[in-house]
Amino acid sequence: MLDKMKIWKNKPTSSDDNLEERKTRLKEQFIPNHVAIIMDGNGRWAKKRALPRVAGHHEGMKVVRKITKLANELGVKTLTLYAFSTENWKRPKMEVDFLMKLPEEFLGTFLPELVEENVRVEMMGYKESLPPHTLGAIGRAMEETKDNDGLVLNFALNYGSRAEILEAVKGVLNDCKSGILNEENLNEDVFSNYLMTKGLGDPDLLIRTSGEIRLSNFMLWQLAYTEFWFTDVLWPDFSEEHFVEAVEVFQNRQRRFGGV
Ligand code: IPE
Ligand code: IPE
Ligand code: MG
Repeated sequence: MLDKMKIWKNKPTSSDDNLEERKTRLKEQFIPNHVAIIMDGNGRWAKKRALPRVAGHHEGMKVVRKITKLANELGVKTLTLYAFSTENWKRPKMEVDFLMKLPEEFLGTFLPELVEENVRVEMMGYKESLPPHTLGAIGRAMEETKDNDGLVLNFALNYGSRAEILEAVKGVLNDCKSGILNEENLNEDVFSNYLMTKGLGDPDLLIRTSGEIRLSNFMLWQLAYTEFWFTDVLWPDFSEEHFVEAVEVFQNRQRRFGGV
């Protein structure tokens, strides 16, 4: 008995083990299908290093690459990344301009690897107000990866959930008026098809970095039964270990969806 307790006490906790071991220990059948991430804390990461805020955004881009690769490897089907909100236009023009150039830089550097890894690039958000160079880069990536059937890498760019829901309501009203949709047939599944996440399904796991415990207008409808995982780690410091930790926690949660 005493011996057994000793063994138990000395057993390393999962976070002491190396990444490869922890990855193989994840239960394959319980890998979240859809993971959504609010990538926050780039500005504070830069500030801590006395760098301009945009240096944090640039560093964060490399993390996107790393986490995409890992999510795909683990068998996640959809990775939705909050890259720019409809409220982020309030930031200084210089920062907004920089953020609008990041998709080109990211895809310019990594698109060949994404193609090779069978990743399909998608985007949700209001396209009208995005600069043509940003839209062009994303459009090309979407076109080039449209036949891939691995991970869907879904960028939420100029995305806002309240606006999305309002648009959906307007779409429903229009379709009812024109007879495409019958009011009696409107249910949650039908309504979901009017949202920007049409066909992607709701996230199983939401991660937000940087210690902020709020949604900031992200996927309000879709997150109804999602498991949340918050960390103080700033996005540029977010590592593969952190992602695996979030999945480990997710696998130990009991989802009840209102049942017992
Ligand atoms: C997240 O980092 C990236 C975007 C919102 C575009 P922030 O830029 O919000 O970083 P903090 O929150 O100011 O540290
Ligand atoms: C949310 O982060 C948007 C993105 C990560 C793209 P913010 O930094 O804009 O959120 P608030 O302003 O702290 O709520
Ligand atoms: Mg922030």
